[in-house]
Amino acid sequence: MTPVPIVALDVASTEAALGLVGELGDSCRFYKVGSELFTATGPSIVRELRRTGAEVFLDLKYHDIPNTVAGAVRNAAALGARLLTVHAAGGGAMVRAAVEAAGDSARCGVLAVTLLTSLDAEQAATLWGRSPKDYRVADEVLRLSELAASAGALGVVCGGGEAKAVKARFDRSLVVLIPGVRLPNSARQDQARVSTPRETASAGADYVVVGRAVTAAPDRRRAMAEVISQLKGVPAERGSLA
Ligand code: C5P
Repeated sequence: MTPVPIVALDVASTEAALGLVGELGDSCRFYKVGSELFTATGPSIVRELRRTGAEVFLDLKYHDIPNTVAGAVRNAAALGARLLTVHAAGGGAMVRAAVEAAGDSARCGVLAVTLLTSLDAEQAATLWGRSPKDYRVADEVLRLSELAASAGALGVVCGGGEAKAVKARFDRSLVVLIPGVRLPNSARQDQARVSTPRETASAGADYVVVGRAVTAAPDRRRAMAEVISQLKGVPAERGSLA
């Protein structure tokens, strides 16, 4: 299965977000609203995007006590978000509260963020008080994926480098979303564990989040076409510029 691309609308206004949506047209029908945009616009951006017919991934990475997260998730589901995130590190009870609040309908799926793709192994080990010598990111991601699966989450967010292991162990029970996607030979910026669209596809990702690789490109439609070509595993020149 070709991973579904989701473009991260990391911009600061409704106009800028809808401008991007208009520019990408049919080449992208799934958008991510994160902290930057949501803090600027409030929930109205989710309704506006839904009005264009696009699906919305509300990436606010909830991490709080179960009751508070449940309340936030209930509101996000009512807004029409198709996917949303919580931090797995909030604990099993918090993830389960989020899943229950999202409701029985398959309409709003809860994804648990394992380890942010901006963290490398050394930073993550330091953060969790572990020795960098015997710390493996893939083991940590699998451990948190186990927690997410036990709590009933739809899936997890992890780096491209760990996705294959997650798919191998939880193929039937968890979908995998990979952020930190970069086209070949481009800068990783503030991300540590990056992967190309082609690598995410061969790792078996269900969804990929593409941010600056498209939104900061000089020709966004061309960059999106390149991402889609790589996800489908076809040479770039055969990708369509929708
Ligand atoms: O521009 P770039 O592709 O780095 O953007 C990645 C997007 O994915 C950002 O909006 C970021 O918040 C989000 N994200 C991430 N790592 C995670 C979860 C979400 O980079 N673990």
